[in-house]
Amino acid sequence: MYTDLHCHYVPGIDDGVRRADDGIALCRGLKRAGFSRVIATPHIRTAMFENKPEDVRGAFATFAQLAASDSAMPELGVGAEHYCDDVFVRAFGDGRVCPYPGGHALLIELPSETMPAGLRELVFEMRLKGITPVLAHPERYSAVWRSSEPIEELVEAGVLPLLDVMSLAERYGREPRRAAERLLDEDLYYAACSDAHKPSDVDVVIDSIGRLRRIVGQDEAEDLLGDHPRRVLEGTFGDWL
Ligand SMILES: [Fe+2]
Repeated sequence: MYTDLHCHYVPGIDDGVRRADDGIALCRGLKRAGFSRVIATPHIRTAMFENKPEDVRGAFATFAQLAASDSAMPELGVGAEHYCDDVFVRAFGDGRVCPYPGGHALLIELPSETMPAGLRELVFEMRLKGITPVLAHPERYSAVWRSSEPIEELVEAGVLPLLDVMSLAERYGREPRRAAERLLDEDLYYAACSDAHKPSDVDVVIDSIGRLRRIVGQDEAEDLLGDHPRRVLEGTFGDWL
């Protein structure tokens, strides 16, 4: 079974689901797609999603309690999708962040147009503190549409790139789909996720997992969706780091 390291089912906290019943429908749908464990990653981004770690954990706990009696639910957990800017750098320094369960890794996203200066230094600092950065949707950054080099450099520095499977179905357009196929071909992804925001995303996710299997084969798809996400939560990254 798979573990989803990136989805937005906690209601009313970001651009994911708005209502609890949609959150439950999304979680059930992700289980149908093959995910036995789904880690909510609400956005934390200044001036857009002003969530503090305690807000994220509080909203998650309220939702998890509501969902507890539902036997069709996958196992739930919480982290956050941290927008990588100066505010994040300070918050990380102060420990005001939401790592993945287990505390070994943390999901970051980058600005879509430019790779931030000082990113390698930040990665180095994070890893010194025992927290490995997982990079959300590398294929959606415009610098990566031209070349895989920025991702190669980040992998060398110790980042774990995470594919949004829906990129393979052109959910975000042609350039991200092409970049995703290239990065898959070059073995530059550590894991894959849904990044689902609403129940109707589930059908696209199921179709996209089929595409992933056809591109990389069954065994590698199992690694990307099952074994490697589990390792992120356990902090046992194999020979990648
Ligand atoms: Fe996301």
